[in-house]
Amino acid sequence: MPKVQGNKLIIENQTVFFKSSEDMSELDDESIDLIITSPPYNRGKTYSSDFGEFHNDSMEDSEYFSFLTEVWKECYRVAKKHAIFFLNIGDSANDQGKSEKVALSAEKASWIRLQDIIWIKTFLGRGHYTPTGGSRRLNNIWEHLYLFVKNKKDYEIDPKAIGIPYADKSNIGRYSDSDLRDAGNVWLIGYEKTTGATIKKGHEAPFPIGLPYRCINLVPNVKTVLDPFGGTCSTLAACLKLGVKGYAYEKYPRIKVIESRILEGKEYQESTESLIPHLELSIKLLVELTSKTYNELPKIKSKVEYNIYSILNEVLKNLNYSSPLKLSLEKRIKSFEHSLNSKRQQEKRYKQKKLTN
Ligand SMILES: C[S@@+](CC[C@H](N)C(=O)[O-])C[C@H]1O[C@@H](n2cnc3c(N)ncnc32)[C@H](O)[C@@H]1O
Repeated sequence: MPKVQGNKLIIENQTVFFKSSEDMSELDDESIDLIITSPPYNRGKTYSSDFGEFHNDSMEDSEYFSFLTEVWKECYRVAKKHAIFFLNIGDSANDQGKSEKVALSAEKASWIRLQDIIWIKTFLGRGHYTPTGGSRRLNNIWEHLYLFVKNKKDYEIDPKAIGIPYADKSNIGRYSDSDLRDAGNVWLIGYEKTTGATIKKGHEAPFPIGLPYRCINLVPNVKTVLDPFGGTCSTLAACLKLGVKGYAYEKYPRIKVIESRILEGKEYQESTESLIPHLELSIKLLVELTSKTYNELPKIKSKVEYNIYSILNEVLKNLNYSSPLKLSLEKRIKSFEHSLNSKRQQEKRYKQKKLTN
């Protein structure tokens, strides 16, 4: 059961301190294996507590960056020698280049920058994003996840722990005996369907549980995780799922939102949608299994069905398939397009007739 004790909330092995992370004296020096966080973006977002207090998300740049550096210094103090730090931040049209400065603010606190992972939030229309670009720019669908370490000679990650299967199976045995390869530094992680109005109440911009979940899995033997800017505490939800001890700091807490977000971790299932190679392999298998018996597909009855058929057709084209199933797909697509065109022509003729009468 969740328990609020003074200025902290405890849920099983997860603890949230309701105070500023500029001072994390509750945590011992060199006690944390992994830090995962997304700081306030200083972009005029609303972060407010149950008690009516608001974070000022429109600071002067100099104040913002020195505030961040103070928190990163505290993170450095509590981090074990081999610790790893994932720092998530994205740019918007109005503050292009800010993430780079945020990364520099961490370097100022002695963190060593190793790599930039691109977190893709949505892809080819899959996943949520607010259409804000209008006619002036494209929507921003990715963010940075900077990877820092405390000591360049003493840290370890295990890329295969979040690996993907080979698309070309002849590679198995060439590099290792398993059908697993490093997924690389572009991660497609969509938002969970539940990330909506309820979770956002008073706390904009939670990241999906899948993000910290993947970071924790990437690092071997993680026992303690810290998120100095907890927000809804998605990081602790991932910790709960993985049985890792988690700590978060949140100065402007929405306690009920935090409780339910952390407990959401229990039900969390990693989405396989993000694993495109897996998806393609399953389609390949499906086609192989069905193509002998599937000579004729049912007719397409709606635009939605047409879209799905077209996507499958595109994937099969990429996989160089020309099976009976593929031919039947093409036939159905063409026939639907033909009937759509005839319908349009008919409507046009009808309108013209009405005008001339
Ligand atoms: C981008 S949000 C974090 C969202 C979080 N990753 C999640 O999934 O919900 C940044 C959070 O930092 C909090 N914050 C602002 N100033 C803080 C401070 N001095 N100490 C701790 N938290 C602070 C804000 O209230 C906000 O909830």
